[in-house]
Amino acid sequence: MRVLVTGGAGYIGSHIVKALLQKGHYPIVLDNLSKGHAEAVLGGELIRGDLGDPGLVQRIMEAGEVEAVIHMAADSLVGESVENPGKYFRNNVGNTLVLLNAMAASGVKNLVFSSTAAVYGEPCTSPIEETHPTCPTNPYGTSKLMVEMMLPWYERAFGLRFISLRYFNAAGADPDGELGEDHRPETHLIPNVLQAALTGRTVEIYGADYPTPDGTCIRDYIHVADLSLAHLLALEALVAGQPSATYNLGNGRGFSVHEVIRTAEEVTGGKIQVRIGPRRPGDPAVLVASAEKISAELGWHPLYPDLHRIIATAWHWQKNHPDGYL
Ligand code: UFG
Repeated sequence: MRVLVTGGAGYIGSHIVKALLQKGHYPIVLDNLSKGHAEAVLGGELIRGDLGDPGLVQRIMEAGEVEAVIHMAADSLVGESVENPGKYFRNNVGNTLVLLNAMAASGVKNLVFSSTAAVYGEPCTSPIEETHPTCPTNPYGTSKLMVEMMLPWYERAFGLRFISLRYFNAAGADPDGELGEDHRPETHLIPNVLQAALTGRTVEIYGADYPTPDGTCIRDYIHVADLSLAHLLALEALVAGQPSATYNLGNGRGFSVHEVIRTAEEVTGGKIQVRIGPRRPGDPAVLVASAEKISAELGWHPLYPDLHRIIATAWHWQKNHPDGYL
């Protein structure tokens, strides 16, 4: 199948492109390379361009004979979204409108949309099910929820079916060692901890006074290869005629920041220097997914649910690529 992957040069997108190639699909990647890396696109076609350009998106849809879309291109930093909400509404909502209109005009009817646990805001139950109220606490989560709310209207008007995947904490790297995480600047916990292990730098823990057993935030880390698998299953389900749906993607198990650091010490075999700092604004104390719905309906079962293994794949890549993709 010819699949347009927006943001396919990014961390998660590049792993999905590899999974598509392994399944014999043809990925057409549209990425402005503002955060992604051309070297991370292992095959198919890479078009450097902006999703906000309606003429370009329409031409790709038609000339590329696109049959389905995986829409990953977005800004995704919670803190930045609070400082600069307009960027998030323009790039995450406005540009998605360009994509949806081009799909409608070209008759492309299958969309896998990357959404986020941030749509839930501060959860009132744990693990979080898809029926949990959505109440984002930052513009990033709001922008993703706005797209989720637009999709059923495009379905009604144009027959465009969708699967929205609400990721919890994507982590790890390609188990073959070809791809990894390379954000500039890096804000995520696991790569920051591993960089600290490599360089001797100190990791700052953003708050140790949360209402959790050790005082640090708890997150549900999901391996990027398991995320990729879910996208493939979603794509296949849509093409087979499955109705539109929204699914959580996590392992159903949470780990605190301290537990992540301890596990990283086991993996790397060294002591990691830490310093307790203030809370980061907008961080909920606990975010753990119930992924029962996607397991039951799409048969998704993670291959790498073990935190040690997740961190080991990230460590393997980081050690071999201390300067990232450069
Ligand atoms: N953390 C630290 N020190 C660091 C980095 C992170 O203590 O140097 C803590 C954070 O405060 C948080 C946990 O580690 O408690 C995980 O933080 P990440 O930045 O790795 O991930 P987030 O949970 O903040 O963000 C992820 C996605 C976002 C998404 C969000 C949903 O990356 O895109 O989950 O809440 F919006």
